[in-house]
Amino acid sequence: MTETPPIDWEALRRRAREVAAHAYAPYSGVRVGAAALVDDGRIVVGCNVENASIGLTTCAENGVASALAATGGGRIVALAVVAGDGDYLAPCGRCRQVLSEFADPDMVIDAGADGTVTLGALLPGAFGPADLAARRDA
Ligand code: THU
Repeated sequence: MTETPPIDWEALRRRAREVAAHAYAPYSGVRVGAAALVDDGRIVVGCNVENASIGLTTCAENGVASALAATGGGRIVALAVVAGDGDYLAPCGRCRQVLSEFADPDMVIDAGADGTVTLGALLPGAFGPADLAARRDA
């Protein structure tokens, strides 16, 4: 796809709020929903899924990455992440790296009252596929 699809932030927030209701978060009590606009115009969503081991918990953005791959791949151009109260939640550090696999630094993320922020601003100097290829021993 050559043209970037228009970003309907209200639709992204709505989809994120809807999927947050399906989060499995019995340990933290923090339900999270994420909705991403893909470069072909579709929206993919994910929610957090906690685990009794705590450390095996997966974030809502991981769900987005899985849904993206499972429904045909593509590049993420915009993302909204909300907690169960419906308000913006900042993607954690691990999720910023997960998202960077499927998005360019100019991908935009809803930042609530602050407007939007780019992934590049949240994760400057990210380690990516090019670094991996360049640093292999052989
Ligand atoms: N969580 C997410 O789903 N995404 C984030 O970016 C931050 C944190 C989840 C993980 C855990 O289930 C709960 O929020 C509390 O940390």
